[in-house]
Amino acid sequence: MCGIIGFTGLKQASPIILEGLSRMEYRGYDSAGMAVISPQNRMQLAKVSGKVAGLYEKTDNGAAFPGVCGIGHTRWATHGAPTEANAHPHVSMHGQFAVAHNGIIENFVPLKEELLAKGYTFQSQTDTEVVAQMLEDCYEGDFQKAVETVLSRIEGSYGFAILCADDPGTIFAVKKNSPIILGLGEGFNLFASDVTALVEHTREVVYMEDGQYAKVTPDSVELFAEDGSPLPLKVSHVSLSVAAAEKGGYEHFMMKEMMEQPEAVGRALSPRIKGGEIVLDDFRLTKEDFNKFTKIVITACGSAYYAGLAGKYAIEKFCRIPVDVQLASELRYADPFIDEHCLLIVLSQSGETLDTIAALKECKARGATVLAIVNVVESAITKLADSVLYTWAGPEVAVATTKGYTTQLAVLYLFAVYAARVLGRLDAEQYASVIRELQALPEAVRNALKTDCDMSNLAQYFKDAQHVFYLGRNTDSALAMEGALKFKEISYIHAEAYASGELKHGTIALIEEGTPVVAVCTNPALLEKSLSNIIEVKARGAVVTAVVPEGLPGSEAIEGYADHCIKVPALRDVFASIAAVVPLQLLAYHTAKLRGCSIDKPKNLAKSVTVE
Ligand code: G6P
Repeated sequence: MCGIIGFTGLKQASPIILEGLSRMEYRGYDSAGMAVISPQNRMQLAKVSGKVAGLYEKTDNGAAFPGVCGIGHTRWATHGAPTEANAHPHVSMHGQFAVAHNGIIENFVPLKEELLAKGYTFQSQTDTEVVAQMLEDCYEGDFQKAVETVLSRIEGSYGFAILCADDPGTIFAVKKNSPIILGLGEGFNLFASDVTALVEHTREVVYMEDGQYAKVTPDSVELFAEDGSPLPLKVSHVSLSVAAAEKGGYEHFMMKEMMEQPEAVGRALSPRIKGGEIVLDDFRLTKEDFNKFTKIVITACGSAYYAGLAGKYAIEKFCRIPVDVQLASELRYADPFIDEHCLLIVLSQSGETLDTIAALKECKARGATVLAIVNVVESAITKLADSVLYTWAGPEVAVATTKGYTTQLAVLYLFAVYAARVLGRLDAEQYASVIRELQALPEAVRNALKTDCDMSNLAQYFKDAQHVFYLGRNTDSALAMEGALKFKEISYIHAEAYASGELKHGTIALIEEGTPVVAVCTNPALLEKSLSNIIEVKARGAVVTAVVPEGLPGSEAIEGYADHCIKVPALRDVFASIAAVVPLQLLAYHTAKLRGCSIDKPKNLAKSVTVE
């Protein structure tokens, strides 16, 4: 996701900021910028669309921007395209304040309207620019007071770095649901959103907590609570190498990204649930549009296709519109039954998958309305779609997708409930209750991550297997496919998913003494059926790992038969996959690790497949 750095000291700030931004490049970004206060107390600003290398060039490696206090940013676009104008920092109308921001200001629309009415003009489409203008608007000579006033008025999640030309040498750092780490030095202080940008300069750090802000000068760092009361600094020593720090201290990006899932799912959902209602600001389909759709087709590749298969159950259940899920590589050549009464949902983490783009074009040419659910802002698919819902998962580096998949599920669930409400298929009470369930999903994902230790132990049983089978019914059958894919793509052990009732019509002969079987049983209505399938494979020697919701009545029988039982948070059946996938991801990870596989870059696979 985006990166922030701020430096104030006796040395030149620009080279330190540029180097810090380079250190954070691994996180992924699409534009960069920095602001440095000149010796004449003027705000100097440089921004580029594209790489930090462009910023080095533009500022003559920093030499063109003299000054000892400044901030920098790498941006991963959310509000507005990754253009130079939208890159951070954003400077207030009269150049007084510069702001770099990670996160989202949820109430930026009314705030912007207020400022427009007062005559403020805006250079960008971002939510962040509002903060710079608000600071200028309420500034009466006291930098800290202006920061406090603005913080009291904004809603959302943020990490900020804020400069004021009137107060050179001082930077404010603010944290709410977006990391900021203060680095303590001698004759300087700095801070960043990522410890990798600090470790070259200091290993004494303070991890800011949500709701705190800090006043950083060359010889002091003062920490304050939301209400302005001073707080003591809790200093930690960082011993991580830079390489380890890039992965957030985890050994692999895949683990880091799995652990980021609660926040990522929260980012996908919470800004779109306001006052008990789903509000899709970035969505252009009307009630009339929904009424004309007689079917929905979901198309995607790989894990995104499996997310589509799971999402189908939620959409059909809530909206009662038939949903057909098709592999993009097949759909494009299928001469599909698609016309103007079809809503095509295109799922893609990268937004650049060639087969998915081709299927989209084919269906669009036949009259379908296209909704894209995509992670990468301004990617090719977003340009072709009629409407886009971003998953806001943040950059995903590991080839095997994890947070990309769970955020796709989150947005599909959100869409299902939204569409059902628009279509009048949920009354106010049902709607309120489902919204509460959606709001609980990030916490459910967080709790599912607690299976990490169990899955690491279980991987011992899987690491020498020849074949592994994944079973499930309904949404669990879609989840079994994702579980099997994750497992085989990184561990290189053959894994196959079957709809539980179908194995006996197929390759049950491959189940023999000791064959590992993962049985996903999250649907309360289908517990008995799942149990008979478990008994069926156990009779042939399978070693069964069952995934069951915590406290589900009737699950004791499954626990009695299964060799291992993994408990996941109980959720409504059509939402269950988002938590139940987590132990399956962890099992794949730990098995691959025990086998010494290249986890983040499995052989022969690419993160984004832009060829047919
Ligand atoms: C590749 C990746 C998969 C991914 C698929 C679709 O095959 O290895 O992890 O699920 O592409 O990618 P997309 O970016 O369209 O979601």
